[in-house]
Amino acid sequence: MILPGSASQSLGAALAAELDERLAAVEYERFADGELVVRAADPEPADRAVVVASTVSGDAHVELLQLQDVARQYAEEVVTVLPYMGYARQDQAFREGEPVSARAVARALSPGTDRVLCVDPHERAVGEFFDAPFEALAAADRLAAPLPDLVDPLFLGPDASARGLARDVRDAHGSGTVDHFEKHRDRDTGEVSVAPSETDAAGRDVVLVDDIVATGGTMSEAIGQLESPAHVFVACVHAMLAGNARSRLARAGVDRVYGTDTLERAETAVSVAPTVADAL
Ligand code: R5P
Repeated sequence: MILPGSASQSLGAALAAELDERLAAVEYERFADGELVVRAADPEPADRAVVVASTVSGDAHVELLQLQDVARQYAEEVVTVLPYMGYARQDQAFREGEPVSARAVARALSPGTDRVLCVDPHERAVGEFFDAPFEALAAADRLAAPLPDLVDPLFLGPDASARGLARDVRDAHGSGTVDHFEKHRDRDTGEVSVAPSETDAAGRDVVLVDDIVATGGTMSEAIGQLESPAHVFVACVHAMLAGNARSRLARAGVDRVYGTDTLERAETAVSVAPTVADAL
């Protein structure tokens, strides 16, 4: 039985199809006082229940806790899939007096599950915060399929940690160069500065690859360092695209953004369901 959160309904359906398992008819409601309640309209006992929920908001976290509770009532084993783990980027107390939010969230989610699968968390070390067995899944390779035909492609990570993702997309694509920029983010202002890569981008189709595009600040800075590329594409696992990220990317010269269904967006171009299904 697959129990999807409200922000992961398409992925839940894709996963159910991939596994040939039942997709529960989950309803998402709210009481007059604003409290949420999920309801599986057609629950059935099962050996395993898979809760699939991207924790994109405070409400989504509560929904996930409720889905885990429903799952535990009907299934022997409860697996929690976090297609996108919210608060994962707050994996340290960056300033005096701040929480380690990723740890707080992980502690809250652990008691209700026997296993956690998380698609491309910001840092794999976030798994150490969970009290349940945790597995990070790498899904960047899925982003190669929707890319258009590319001329002399250059796959670039906007920072050193994204180089591996760029390499995964290049490998799945089959050809091209891999490089990365050097990035610095000012902890106080959040401003991003990026030092250029050594590879010449002139006349080439450039694919910038990252785990997440949130404000678009990192990508815009990186694109600004490119000299005369033919086309610029952005491929990211989590297309958060908060605030004015879309117009920011467009103004920076991005031809198209490709994301997965860890976040359900207009830019979603491919599903991570096969990756999740393999891990289940
Ligand atoms: C940071 O290390 C991440 O990999 C992303 O580069 C970053 O979180 C993207 O955020 P934004 O789009 O706000 O620059």
